[in-house]
Amino acid sequence: MESRSTPSISSATIERCAAEENARFAAERPQSTARLERAVATFPRGVPMSWMDDLYEHAPIWVSHGSGAYFWDVDGHEYLDMFVADMSAFCGHAPEPVVTAVSRRMAAGNQFLLPSDEAVPLGEHLAQRYRMPQWQFTLSASQANTEVIRIARKRTGREIVLVFDGKYHGHLEPTLVVLDDGEVVPEFLGLSRDVTGGTRMVPFNDVSAVERGLADREVALVLTEPAMTNAGFLLPEPAFHDALRRVTRATGTLLAIDETHSLVTSYAGLTTEWGLEPDFLTLGKAIAAGVPLGAYGMTHELAAEITPPDVFANVSGAMIGEVATGGTLFANALSVAAGLVAMTEVLTQDAFDRTAELGDRLGAGLRRIFNDAGLAWSVVQHGSHAAYFFTPEAPRNAAESRAADDPALRALFRVFLANRGVWESGWWLGPTVSVAHTAADVDRYLDAVEELTTVLT
Ligand SMILES: Cc1ncc(COP(=O)(O)O)c(C=O)c1O
Repeated sequence: MESRSTPSISSATIERCAAEENARFAAERPQSTARLERAVATFPRGVPMSWMDDLYEHAPIWVSHGSGAYFWDVDGHEYLDMFVADMSAFCGHAPEPVVTAVSRRMAAGNQFLLPSDEAVPLGEHLAQRYRMPQWQFTLSASQANTEVIRIARKRTGREIVLVFDGKYHGHLEPTLVVLDDGEVVPEFLGLSRDVTGGTRMVPFNDVSAVERGLADREVALVLTEPAMTNAGFLLPEPAFHDALRRVTRATGTLLAIDETHSLVTSYAGLTTEWGLEPDFLTLGKAIAAGVPLGAYGMTHELAAEITPPDVFANVSGAMIGEVATGGTLFANALSVAAGLVAMTEVLTQDAFDRTAELGDRLGAGLRRIFNDAGLAWSVVQHGSHAAYFFTPEAPRNAAESRAADDPALRALFRVFLANRGVWESGWWLGPTVSVAHTAADVDRYLDAVEELTTVLT
């Protein structure tokens, strides 16, 4: 039988190769296996956070340390990191300026529930770089998006959020829905019963669907990535963002652009590169080199919504009137110190110029390999990030991306490359070149991919 979406490769070939590679992966990792066996007594699924098991088809590996573009597991295997921890390790592992700043900040006290000295320069840097005047910090992008939605609801007096099929904006209820036969349904268990009532979902790149979704003026906020990165890498069609901004303005709907992932593709984000004009902009993951820090920027008008009212309503002893924002550890001194040095000394314009060049090398290399192997697979690449699809045409939206996918083949890529010292990205993302990667690292990745395509064809 042929592979579902890759007619030139038989399913039998994929299955045989996967069986060999999975057996090798397990046999060569006895220390990780031992830790998993021990950990099931303490952790559900044997891991301290479920995704560490969930994201991969193979068993989790335990990490010992990381440096630059590489990390090592407890069995001593070295991995070239092309996943970069779902974009959060884009600064590379243990970047020296961040190690120094974090060590110094920890020694000088890390948590005061008061602003620390690094906060103002970080806020000023973000304001200037991302062209958003006002900022707040959280510990994650999920929390930043949560607060963005609350401010939008307060501002508009509306409840509903509109997101695009294939989105991921974090584990916050208003975005944890999916489309099932055109109906919005809960994405996971354990969510509130009416989670679907507050969210609309339409296909990316579909202006008419956006117009229909916003027509009744019930939507508070459209939350989108500039280019979608959680269903492969889906680029916007040329007129899409202009139309989105026109329709949101015409219907009194606010617009938030979530650059949590896409910030790795462009020095000041795709928002700036493409001249987009959102009301909010979300950041996270790599902005503090993986030290927990989320941030959102907003216009002055929206920032005014955070200002407490002169008079609070006193309801049952609670003072009601402020938007629900904040947290004890949000904007802590350690995260802010890491953010300042990561943004100003690691994620520099030079670093972005270099990663974009290496990204071009990665994209061109993948195209050449697939072409040489006679595989009609498409590659999308922008700056440091790329994705490949098992179809000749790159998908325009998540439905096309799902149809293009071949989960068995994806899983084989991951384990085959891991056995050759390359940590491939998760299926939803695609490989990324970090600030620490070199041209030789990109070539090492391409060699491993070429070895697999040679085995398969
Ligand atoms: C676009 C986008 N926004 C937000 C998030 C949530 O990030 P975090 O899990 O760090 O809160 C993610 C995570 O993958 C993401 O891809």
